[in-house]
Amino acid sequence: MVPLVAVTSLRRKLSVSAAVGLFLVPGCHAVEQELPYAEPVRSSPEHLAGMEARTVSVTADDSVVSYRYPRLGGGHPLTVEVRTAMAARQTAFLEELSGDGTPELHQDTAILAASPEVVGARLTATASSDGNETFEASTLWYDADSGEVLPWTSLFRDEEAIEQLHLTLAGVLEKDYNLPEQQLPGLLGEVASGERTASEGGASGDGSGGGTGGEADEGSASLDLSDPEQAREAAERWRGSPLGDVAFSTAGGLAVRMDPDEVPGAGRLSEVLVPVEAADVEELLSELGYQARNAALNGGGLPDDEGGLSAQGHTLDCRRLKCVALTFDDGPGEHTDQLLDSLAEYDAHATFYVLGSLVREFPEPLERMAEEGHELGNHTWKHGDLAQMSADEVRKDIERTNEAVREVTGSVPPTIRPPYGSLNGTVRRAVDQPLVLWDVDTLDWKSRDTDEVSAQALDNTVPGSVVLFHDIHETSVKAVPDVLAGLHRQGYHFVTVTDIFGYQEMEPGGVYTDAQLS
Ligand code: NI
Repeated sequence: MVPLVAVTSLRRKLSVSAAVGLFLVPGCHAVEQELPYAEPVRSSPEHLAGMEARTVSVTADDSVVSYRYPRLGGGHPLTVEVRTAMAARQTAFLEELSGDGTPELHQDTAILAASPEVVGARLTATASSDGNETFEASTLWYDADSGEVLPWTSLFRDEEAIEQLHLTLAGVLEKDYNLPEQQLPGLLGEVASGERTASEGGASGDGSGGGTGGEADEGSASLDLSDPEQAREAAERWRGSPLGDVAFSTAGGLAVRMDPDEVPGAGRLSEVLVPVEAADVEELLSELGYQARNAALNGGGLPDDEGGLSAQGHTLDCRRLKCVALTFDDGPGEHTDQLLDSLAEYDAHATFYVLGSLVREFPEPLERMAEEGHELGNHTWKHGDLAQMSADEVRKDIERTNEAVREVTGSVPPTIRPPYGSLNGTVRRAVDQPLVLWDVDTLDWKSRDTDEVSAQALDNTVPGSVVLFHDIHETSVKAVPDVLAGLHRQGYHFVTVTDIFGYQEMEPGGVYTDAQLS
């Protein structure tokens, strides 16, 4: 295990040169003074043994979006949380686009701490649109003990400790960075001037600067930060705090990132890393905070969660996202490869309901589907009408098809789509897999018209939809690039059937048409 500290490269201290000194308040004698900078412990996910990172990047006509997230086993809570947060940010970005130029959103993850007890991740988002660039950063902390992914507030003992840290930060900025109290930004200024205290709970959110904060409303009691829900509530209360982008420093204290324009005296262009000394943090951390600091400074591996890196699992929480499941029936066929190329451009994952009798004829596309994260579904051996069969015939047909897919991909299809959507009680009782129908029918087998097929999909899809296509028709496969471009532009994420239903229990013999939440 490489200690995290070894891969950070920022210098701890910066001697103020004459050029930087120009930014200092005129008349200040401290031109030769060393500004105290913190060196944060931050690491690229790839640099950690046992951790992989995955980058998703989509370049469309009118936008570029990308994100990189760490993978700790297929369905690890931290992976799901990071990826879901980034996917939601991407949707918001695409929904807000004005349409001029080529706006870009780039999201990234750095690891702030990693040990068997805790993993800290820093999420950053850089958006550029119409010549404006914005930057956001936040942190998430996985607590192996509870299995919860927690906000930054969980690192601290209580809200009083958070208030104390704001005062300490304000002190460093005033004393070392020559920032007068009245110029302290946002929450720091409010806390320093006594406008806002932990006992008041700082109940006013970001942007409601008009209030004096003296009004106590509900939730003004100090929150218990060891409780995940209350820690999340506290993160809302303290929204806009510089501690929202906190890391541990190599010196064992904190490195708090601030914007250069908030701290002009620092003479920095990208970020100002304000230090809080280890001694000033000592009494203020929670148990998780101490574990996280220890993990940042000493490393020591990763949580020993079941699953492991190769485990398949849901990595997007579609309950909180704009998801759609594209499904392709009756193949594989001669156009399937072309379809897979289109899907790859949008990092789209689809579900293929294949016929067992075709699997041996087209094994390569099946291998490619499995390799590229698509899902295989059972569409019977030869497109038989299951409702016309006896229970025994149903079982034999489904089993034979399951086995054909398993021989090629190594795993049994998790769901069944009955041909013609035809099913009855006998079918439901005979099968061991859930039965999946659809809510959007492109009627592609009937129209055989590319524009008509994409219009059907684009006009009728809503979050949670399961859309039916047939990849044996060239007209359908040719419609897919337009469908992907249009739905991506609307902020959709393309997931498999078990991903879209993933957080509801799917039952053997249960019938599912869509995952619409409202
Ligand atoms: Ni079919």
